[in-house]
Amino acid sequence: MKLLKLFMKKEEGGEKPASSGHYLTGKEARAIAKANNKEMRRLEQAKRRKLPVSAYTTEMKDNGNILEIEDLHSYFFTDQGVVKAVNGVSFEVPMNSTVGVVGESGCGKSVTSMSVMRLLQGPSGQIVSGSIRFKALDYKRDEKGKYIPVYQRDEKGEIVYEPVLDKSGKPRTDKYGNPVTRPVQVRDENGIGVYEKEEHVFDIAKMPINEMYRLRGRQMSMVFQEPMTSLNPVFTIGNQLDEVTLIHVPDATREFAKKRSIEMLNLVGIAMPERVYASFPHELSGGMRQRVMIAMALACEPRLIIADEPTTALDVTIQAQILNLFNELKRKINGSILLITHDLGVIAEMADYVVVMYAGKIIERGTASEIFHNPCHPYTQGLQKSKPTMNSTVDQLFNIPGNVPNPINMPDYCYFKERCSRCIAKCSGEYPKMTRISPTHYVACHLYDDREWRG
Ligand SMILES: Nc1ncnc2c1ncn2[C@@H]1O[C@H](COP(=O)(O)OP(=O)(O)OP(=O)(O)O)[C@@H](O)[C@H]1O
Ligand code: SF4
Ligand SMILES: [Mg+2]
Repeated sequence: MKLLKLFMKKEEGGEKPASSGHYLTGKEARAIAKANNKEMRRLEQAKRRKLPVSAYTTEMKDNGNILEIEDLHSYFFTDQGVVKAVNGVSFEVPMNSTVGVVGESGCGKSVTSMSVMRLLQGPSGQIVSGSIRFKALDYKRDEKGKYIPVYQRDEKGEIVYEPVLDKSGKPRTDKYGNPVTRPVQVRDENGIGVYEKEEHVFDIAKMPINEMYRLRGRQMSMVFQEPMTSLNPVFTIGNQLDEVTLIHVPDATREFAKKRSIEMLNLVGIAMPERVYASFPHELSGGMRQRVMIAMALACEPRLIIADEPTTALDVTIQAQILNLFNELKRKINGSILLITHDLGVIAEMADYVVVMYAGKIIERGTASEIFHNPCHPYTQGLQKSKPTMNSTVDQLFNIPGNVPNPINMPDYCYFKERCSRCIAKCSGEYPKMTRISPTHYVACHLYDDREWRG
């Protein structure tokens, strides 16, 4: 008790700051909690505010892209302070391409992908600023917010009407004896009604959270790292797959959902789809569960698939099969893939473009060939050197010395400085800007400050 009083006296009296290094005084902890609560409340309210569609509809900077992330900041408001997990990230995913995001553990890869899906766990995890522009092919709505059916038209372009029948199958008439008719909706080969669609560019970062159902699953979907924790153990695979179709396809029937689920299981190379359809997740192997997750992600033919370490939990042969499957599917559904991994081998096999992240920032990005044949940032060079190769014999693999700086107290200068072997005087100055060194290659390092590409 005496000791506690002494501690409280020192802290309140402010004789000297009790905080040193990682330890926080009660006063500091209270100040952090107060600031966090204020900011979290503001961001949570903004997330749930009702907005007109025009408030989160925008334009793409380049129409050839499906996703453009610009200056994204996603933070975690923790008791120790603010973790700037994603701190000013900008990159784009062109249509029909695979973009790989690499970087060591904790650099912000998953937080970037969770931000795109708006799945950051609130109230502590929040998108604080930036834009995430996504080109969606969404259902068109009338002024009441209902989907607009596509109607059959005759040779003259007039809508075709059909008589409305009563319970006994006879044409219904109104009080004047005129037949009651209704327009005939176009149906697809499965008998499901077709609705009008239109392209919209949404700024996901500004979208109210309960509007995200328009995009998640239907337009963009995610394959998580660990299929066992992402599948519900108490429902069959069939139940879980059908649900995706039933939620996202207007007018979908149970029979149609089942047919579609079995088609998807076939597409991802599952040998006995009917048996797997009726199984529970624990009855399947890890590789099969991962395939089921991919089938689920594909059920609505999304334009963008985000795969966060999709093969890390699998052995090498299954890894290769899953990667081939992704490549095949990308061609089939004409979509784009955002592939997150720390495995450079996977990136080399799959990606058209590569984004290298370090401590919440992008430090280099370019085409796969630029990143693999001409890595420029000392960190990317270190990553390349630490990768085992078939045609060289070494006693010990190269490792990048040191650790990533504390995410709560990031320095003002280059975050890689403490670990860099090519450091120059300028590196103690401000954080390096992103320099464009070829039409598609960007690097954030002072060594390239005067090597700007000028066309
Ligand atoms: N819920 C959370 N609360 C506080 N900090 C978090 C939380 N989730 C992630 N972080 C922090 O955000 C940073 C980025 O984490 P993220 O999960 O994106 O890393 P990653 O690049 O995906 O790593 P890995 O390769 O290990 O999956 C890390 O510093 C992590 O500690
Ligand atoms: S800016 Fe300096 S410290 Fe940072 S990576 Fe480049 S050379 Fe190294
Ligand atoms: Mg991760």
